[in-house]
Amino acid sequence: MKELEINNPFVVGKYLSDKYFCDRSEETEFLRKQIQNGRDVALISPRRIGKSGLIQHFFNQKDIRENYHVFFVDIYATTSLTEFVYTLGKEIYEQLKPQTTVWREKFFQMISSFRVGFKLDTMTGTPGLDIGLGDIQVPQTSLDEIFAYIDEADKPCIIAIDEFQQIGEYTEKNVEALLRTKIQKCQRAQFIFAGSKRHIMSNMFNSPSKPFYQSAISMGLEPIPINIYSKFATTLFEERGKYIESEVIEQIWLQFKGYTWFVQMMMNELYALTAEGQTCHPSMISEARHNIIMAQEQSYKDLLSNLPPKQKIVLQAIAKEGLAQNITSAKFIKKYNLNSASSVQSAVKLLLKNDLVTQTDNGYRVYDFFLSEWLATIY
Ligand SMILES: Nc1ncnc2c1ncn2[C@@H]1O[C@H](COP(=O)(O)OP(=O)(O)OP(=O)(O)O)[C@@H](O)[C@H]1O
Ligand SMILES: [Mg+2]
Repeated sequence: MKELEINNPFVVGKYLSDKYFCDRSEETEFLRKQIQNGRDVALISPRRIGKSGLIQHFFNQKDIRENYHVFFVDIYATTSLTEFVYTLGKEIYEQLKPQTTVWREKFFQMISSFRVGFKLDTMTGTPGLDIGLGDIQVPQTSLDEIFAYIDEADKPCIIAIDEFQQIGEYTEKNVEALLRTKIQKCQRAQFIFAGSKRHIMSNMFNSPSKPFYQSAISMGLEPIPINIYSKFATTLFEERGKYIESEVIEQIWLQFKGYTWFVQMMMNELYALTAEGQTCHPSMISEARHNIIMAQEQSYKDLLSNLPPKQKIVLQAIAKEGLAQNITSAKFIKKYNLNSASSVQSAVKLLLKNDLVTQTDNGYRVYDFFLSEWLATIY
C-alpha cells in the first residue's frame, strides 16, 4: 500500500508496514536468531501488547520473506482439532495460491482429504478451496497429510500459531500430546506459538509433565518503552505537518500502562482531532477518550446484555474501584451491594476466564480501560 493512501498513520488492528510499526527491533532480532538456529518459540504476553503485530512484522522482514514460507494461523475461534486442521489447511492454501511453484501444484495431490473442496472458479478457471468443516472427516489423517506436505516444501516454513492456549479447550482428548508428536516429526517447519493466557501457556511449555515441555524458547513481550514510542508518534505527526507536545504522549502512555492497542487508539483519535499545522495539547486527551468510548458504546451494551447479572454487577464494582483489592472482603461486598464472598469469587473466576477482568500484582481491574471508564462513569 502506498504511504499517502493512509489518512491516519496510527494504524490499529492490522499490520501495514515497517513505517507504521514502532520499533520491536530487539524482539525481531531475537525471533530471527531462534528461528535461524532451529528453535521454536513460545511468545507469551498480556493481551493487546503486540504479539500478533510482532509476528507479522517478523514475517515481513526481507530475509524472512525470501528464505521461508510463512504461515500465520489464528486459532482463537477454534474449538476442536477438526477446526484446527481446517484453519491450518486453509491458511496454507491461501498463502500458496498466488505462487506458481511446483510445491504449490502438489497441494491437492498430497492433501487428498481436501480434494473434495477443490473447485475451479467457473468464471476465471482459477482453483479455489471451498471446504467446509464437515469435509474434514478424520482430522488426524488430514493433519498427517498437511505435515507430510510441508516436509516436501521447496523452502523451510515458519508456522505461527496465534492464541495457541486455545488447544487446551478442544473437545478431543490429548490434543497437546498429538500435536507435539506431529510437530516434532515435521522437519521442514518451525513454529512460533503465541498466547496471552500466561498461566496456561507457561504451564504448557514449562511443566515437566506436559507434552510441550521445553520444546520451545519462551519469550515475553513488554510494552514499548515510552521514549521510543514518543519519538515514533512525534515523527508520524510531523511528517504530515502536524505537531504534538511530548507531554500528551507521556500522559497517554502512563494512563494505559503502555498497552499498545490502547495507546495507538488514543493517538489515532488525537491525530484526527488535530488540524493540519496545529499542535496537539494535553487538554485534548479527555475529548479523545470520550470519543473512543462513545464510538464503542453499542458494543459495550451488547456485551453486557450477554453477561449473567451476577458477573455484570461484579464487573461494574471492579470498574468503579479502578484497581480492586480484597474483592471478597465484607467492606467491598457492602460497598457495592454484592451477594456474598463466594458469589463474587465465582463471578470473578468467569470474568477472568473471559478476559473481561485481569489480575495484577495489586488487585483486579477491568481489562479494557475504555470499557472500565464507561462502566464506572456512564453506564
Ligand atoms: N510495535 C507496534 N507499533 C505500532 N502499533 C502496534 C505495534 N504493536 C502492535 N500494534 C498495534 O496494537 C494493536 C494490538 O497489537 P496485537 O494485536 O499485535 O496485540 P496482541 O498482543 O496480539 O493482542 P491479543 O492478545 O489481544 O491478540 C494492533 O492493533 C496493532 O495495530
Ligand atoms: Mg493477537
